[in-house]
Amino acid sequence: MIFETPRLVARHFGPRDLAAFVAMRDDPEVARYQSWQGFTEEDGRSFIASLASMQPGDPGWFQFALEEKACGQFAGDCGLFIDPTDARLGRIGYSITRPFWNRGFATEAVAALAGYAFTRFDLHRITASVDPRNTASCRVLEKAGFLKEAHFRRSEWFRGAWADDAVYARLRDG
Ligand SMILES: CC(C)(COP(=O)(O)OP(=O)(O)OC[C@H]1O[C@@H](n2cnc3c(N)ncnc32)[C@H](O)[C@@H]1OP(=O)(O)O)[C@@H](O)C(=O)NCCC(=O)NCCS
Repeated sequence: MIFETPRLVARHFGPRDLAAFVAMRDDPEVARYQSWQGFTEEDGRSFIASLASMQPGDPGWFQFALEEKACGQFAGDCGLFIDPTDARLGRIGYSITRPFWNRGFATEAVAALAGYAFTRFDLHRITASVDPRNTASCRVLEKAGFLKEAHFRRSEWFRGAWADDAVYARLRDG
């Protein structure tokens, strides 16, 4: 276990997560505002293999598997990005598998991830970038203590059209 919330454990990914992880990422509702479209078993295998030699806090993205404590099922993932040019700057990302939506799991995971990251690493600031149409994700960040700092209009080319981008942040010292 790397960190926990009242109902979730955040841990390293392993081969046992493959089927549930691929099913989550291949779900078009989960992928709606994400960088991927369609996710194969081969994609899942290389994703899990690429994490095997990494540790949280390494420069770049590290992804944590989220497991529900009550039933031991894979519930989603969350990621921490450490800026390779300045390790005091972090970013986060997260997904919850659809059967677990709207039960407060993402809020628990994001709040605990931020707490873990500020405690464990020398982070000054953690940000999250969200498509503002992703209202559930915006709500998660607000509930987890992130403040909306920016709304960039039609700033990203996303699936054939310009999309807005909202930036939320939490600072170590508030
Ligand atoms: C966004 C996501 C992580 C939320 O996970 P979750 O576990 O359902 O989130 P929570 O239950 O902690 O909170 C969801 C909040 O959004 C609200 N919400 C859910 N769907 C909504 C919608 N369509 N419109 C407005 N609010 C919505 C819920 O009511 C809840 O707010 P509340 O507690 O004030 O009632 C999940 O939907 C997901 O994995 N989406 C796909 C991946 C993704 O978009 N990740 C984020 C990328 S930035």
